[in-house]
Amino acid sequence: MSERAQYLLEVTDLVKEFKIKRAFGSKGKNTNSKVVAVNHSSLRIKKGEIYGLVGESGCGKSTFGRCVLQLIPPTSGSIKYEGEELLGLSPKKLLPYKKKMQIVFQNPYASMNPKMKIRATLKEVLKHFEIASGREEEDIIETLRMVGIEKEALDKYPHQFSGGQLQRIAIARALLGEPELLIADEPVSALDVSIQAQVLNILRDLNREINLTMLFVSHDLSVVQYLCDKAAVIYNGVIVEDGAIDDLYNHTWHPYTKALLSAIPIPDPEVEENDIEMLTDTNEMAGEQEGCVYYSRCPRRQDACKGEIQPVTVNGHMCRCILAKEAVQEI
Ligand SMILES: Nc1ncnc2c1ncn2[C@@H]1O[C@H](COP(=O)(O)OP(=O)(O)OP(=O)(O)O)[C@@H](O)[C@H]1O
Ligand SMILES: [Mg+2]
Repeated sequence: MSERAQYLLEVTDLVKEFKIKRAFGSKGKNTNSKVVAVNHSSLRIKKGEIYGLVGESGCGKSTFGRCVLQLIPPTSGSIKYEGEELLGLSPKKLLPYKKKMQIVFQNPYASMNPKMKIRATLKEVLKHFEIASGREEEDIIETLRMVGIEKEALDKYPHQFSGGQLQRIAIARALLGEPELLIADEPVSALDVSIQAQVLNILRDLNREINLTMLFVSHDLSVVQYLCDKAAVIYNGVIVEDGAIDDLYNHTWHPYTKALLSAIPIPDPEVEENDIEMLTDTNEMAGEQEGCVYYSRCPRRQDACKGEIQPVTVNGHMCRCILAKEAVQEI
């Protein structure tokens, strides 16, 4: 890492717009509308951290992760890895960074070729990254062992595994490039609850044992609380609050984060569940450039929320809500 680079990954003002050329049913009319999936969002991850990115379905989490890996081209912004700008690099110059950053997807069955045995799938990764140690088979077996999978798996096809086993093999595939940063995009959402903990523990152990840095994408704040050191809460493509996990849970400032937290089921029949405080989206602010992104659903909205919102940051805890100012004054 260069002397100056304090962060392994530094994403600044990332924007991703999808152009919708023709609306469904518009009979050939070019509507030229767009979806702003990620809207001027920034986050910074230090080496060895597990950083959560959390929000409801469709808020832009996967798009953010895919832009970081440049699986899709960002519209604008900056993505720095160890202080080096990645946007604008040629595919050849980008390749070593693609090796350092790997991704695990939500659905392991969809992310593997069903017609290839596990050995062939894993060998392909070594070939792609031109890793020729002369002991490829041993390297693969050793990596499978790290995720608790026996070498007998090599001669099987994806459909012969359970979801949890196959997700562990997908993690092993990601590890073969010897990444420093793993983007885990909802890696346990498709798994049975009983299996989720196994996979989460493997990720936590990899973080501890090989200092693997992680961007952990999830819609589930309880999973993020279990695994992550820090997290960002994203709503409609905008990061509305971020900070250390303890701050997010114990000093929650943003009404959206509060709503997500109140949606976590409490495993105690004696304790009454909180009502989730969130209005039905009336889309009152749709298309507005200024103003709070959460305005139309916020139970605590005020007229001032229609104006520009300046983020408030105290000791690394950031919140994009005018209520945060009051909360800070009370500290
Ligand atoms: N290729 C695409 N073309 C057009 N719109 C897209 C495309 N990919 C994503 N979107 C839109 O961008 C927004 C963000 O999608 P994204 O998949 O990043 O959300 P997400 O937070 O990962 O959701 P989920 O929790 O369901 O995985 C959504 O409105 C989605 O419909
Ligand atoms: Mg997603």
